[in-house]
Amino acid sequence: MHFKDKVVWITGASSGIGAELAKQLAKLGAKLVLTARSADKLAEVKKSCHTDCSVLPADLYQSNSIKALTKQAVSIYGQVDVVIHSAGISQRSLATETDMKVYRELMEINFFTAVAITRYLLPHFEERNTGHIVALSSMAGLMGFPMRTGYAAAKHAVKGYFETLQTELLNTNIHTTIVSPGRINTPISMSALTKDGTPHSQMDDGQLNGIPVDTCAKKILDGVTKNKKHIVIATGERLLWWFWWFIPNLYYRIAHKKGMQ
Ligand SMILES: NC(=O)c1ccc[n+]([C@@H]2O[C@H](COP(=O)([O-])OP(=O)(O)OC[C@H]3O[C@@H](n4cnc5c(N)ncnc54)[C@H](OP(=O)(O)O)[C@@H]3O)[C@@H](O)[C@H]2O)c1
Repeated sequence: MHFKDKVVWITGASSGIGAELAKQLAKLGAKLVLTARSADKLAEVKKSCHTDCSVLPADLYQSNSIKALTKQAVSIYGQVDVVIHSAGISQRSLATETDMKVYRELMEINFFTAVAITRYLLPHFEERNTGHIVALSSMAGLMGFPMRTGYAAAKHAVKGYFETLQTELLNTNIHTTIVSPGRINTPISMSALTKDGTPHSQMDDGQLNGIPVDTCAKKILDGVTKNKKHIVIATGERLLWWFWWFIPNLYYRIAHKKGMQ
């Protein structure tokens, strides 16, 4: 799989991993469709992409309009070859104090949006007998971490849905890559939802000291090029995950100590 002249639709393209993927894909000669809420930020990303690039702003929380949005995305260049589900929102609140509306928003943006877009794109991929889906899960989609009950649940759901899709589409030319990053240096903690749905509005140390976003995007594109089914991009979280497998009591102790500070 190569990206030259491929049409790549990226959600969450106004910031962080999605924006960096757009810039790197532009250099590889892909044609881009960029989606997020902020039209201004998308226009900035477009400016730095010297390639065919269209912005398609949308609030993905409005899941009833996703079918029409998918049609629009396909109609821009007449096809979509690759979709990257990077739109996402994190959480910073304890289970004991989080409003139900926060859980619903976390599931909607992180999970249902990706499922709906995939659902409406699959007939297009089947018709053309080609397509690649890239789903951003998280290390929080492989194990729990404090203050992120809803986020971890949504990312586990992403992993479960797309891994199952991989088993269903195994002998087809439609591929899926699941990405599980640890902490990456993006502003994701700024928009993370607190207990009542207001944004956390802080750049957490974990984010600031995270893996550089260009390294993360490069690893994602390398993995997709190789048709990898699952890409883990993490350092400290990888060790924690090892403990989760082999010394679970230690995993619980470390996760509690680190996450409850
Ligand atoms: N950074 C990390 O440490 C990390 C680790 C593991 C997994 N991930 C996952 O990687 C993906 C990208 O995260 P990131 O770090 O790049 O975060 P980010 O910089 O905060 O970007 C999130 C993107 O999602 C978009 N978005 C949020 N709500 C939306 C909505 N209602 N409708 C449309 N777009 C919406 C945002 O755009 P607008 O605000 O303009 O709508 C933005 O473009 C997410 O799925 C995240 O969960 C990140």
